[in-house]
Amino acid sequence: MNNGTLQMPPQASTMAHQVDALYYFIFWGCTAFFLLIVGLTLFFIIKYRRREGQVLQPRASHNTPLELTWTIIPTILVMVVFVWGFKGYMKLAVAPRNSLEYYVTAKKWLWQIKDPNGQQTINEMSVPVHQPIKVILRSEDLIHSFYVPAFRVKQDAVPNRYTTLWFEATTPGDYNLFCAEYCGAGHSGMLGKIHVLTPEAWEDYQKKSAGRPEEVSPEDWGRQLYNSRACVTCHSLDGSVKTGPSFKGIFGHRVELADGSTITVNEDYIRQSIMDPTSQVVKGFQPVMPTFAGLLSSDDIDALIAFIKSVE
Ligand code: CUA
Repeated sequence: MNNGTLQMPPQASTMAHQVDALYYFIFWGCTAFFLLIVGLTLFFIIKYRRREGQVLQPRASHNTPLELTWTIIPTILVMVVFVWGFKGYMKLAVAPRNSLEYYVTAKKWLWQIKDPNGQQTINEMSVPVHQPIKVILRSEDLIHSFYVPAFRVKQDAVPNRYTTLWFEATTPGDYNLFCAEYCGAGHSGMLGKIHVLTPEAWEDYQKKSAGRPEEVSPEDWGRQLYNSRACVTCHSLDGSVKTGPSFKGIFGHRVELADGSTITVNEDYIRQSIMDPTSQVVKGFQPVMPTFAGLLSSDDIDALIAFIKSVE
């Protein structure tokens, strides 16, 4: 893998070379024609400029060889781009039969990922290297777009239908997953990581259970969940207002809800807000948080509560 160029991120999938080759063919083709056209224009402007006392000559009206040349050459070039691009498109559109399947659900503003063993994660996707991966996408609200620049793949996630893409990663490492379709206030925070694992690391990953390890305190586990489950996208720790209320000093305080009533932020309120987020929305905020029911265990919720208590 190279480290990327001025224009392109690193090439980390089997398709990246082919995508880049076509891109550079078009890029350098355009550059050559730009120089040719602008160069000739400048040359003719100077050579045939109007001079003192010059009598205007009738212009040439037609030149068949010239017209054939500037029709046939661009036609050939455009057909090359079409055939090349179409072949690449077909390759990218049809996942190989032996692909591992991941179900990915996009929603405001996170990626919910279910790996082939049924384990659910948020914004973190672990895949083995040198293995075709098929991503089956859907959206729960509006159009998002699953975009991994290092793999040169992008596909919209659309409500009420499935879309798919596939890739085969060539180099272990962590790669950025972006949302590439503007989807509202949290769009730019809708970030994920794709962890490409060596065969050994992939074995370990499959054995590992998703719960809190014994040696990690609930508070630290809550902090990890705060980042890995994307709470961080909408809830700050320093008092700044994002899409949702800040966690700073929130525990034990009374807050006013959208319906005008007030409530004390305690264990039960936090749990309720995670499982059924739109039921008790704090005044001044939109009811946009997705539910985490089924995505967090009771122990995870305890840990998040412990963490929120610690944010002062
Ligand atoms: Cu989701 Cu932009």
